[in-house]
Amino acid sequence: MNIALVGMPGSGKSTVGRQLARRLQLPFVDADQWVEQRLGCSIREYFEREGEAGFRDFEQQALADITASGPAVIATGGGAVLREANRACLRQNTRVFYLFATPEEVYRRLRHDQVRPLLQVADPQARLRELFAQRDPLYRETAHEVITIGRPSTAALVNTIAGLV
Ligand code: S3P
Repeated sequence: MNIALVGMPGSGKSTVGRQLARRLQLPFVDADQWVEQRLGCSIREYFEREGEAGFRDFEQQALADITASGPAVIATGGGAVLREANRACLRQNTRVFYLFATPEEVYRRLRHDQVRPLLQVADPQARLRELFAQRDPLYRETAHEVITIGRPSTAALVNTIAGLV
């Protein structure tokens, strides 16, 4: 069975996912990297050229392909839950963990980020609060388990998740 991590950008989906995959001896797939490899350019460049909707279409197809070719541990993009089709796809084929982080925590981790197109705005802190308000209910709706990232180390988080799989 697939295991997917959902949550805000900067919540540690890729870092935790990579170590969890090693621990469970499953392949690790980072959905953003998968998309960038197939696009042949960065997500940021694609956003600039095609807009967010173009990226979301690509992301939706990627998620369907990745879940169909599992089992794997999958780090999803932070906005994957925005589409109902993605939420349904994840809930059907996959055990889903929400890495919960407050917008303040996420801001601390991402304040120097220059990669994520949605955060290249005058007030990224306000943008993160908006994204969180919109997405937190969707992450909760999609996930089977909520894991609060808070203080625990990556290793401790991996242990917790591995114990719930
Ligand atoms: C996005 C998050 C990014 C990436 C894209 C859009 C979002 O993934 O998919 O920039 O909408 O929050 P991470 O959550 O891995 O940063």
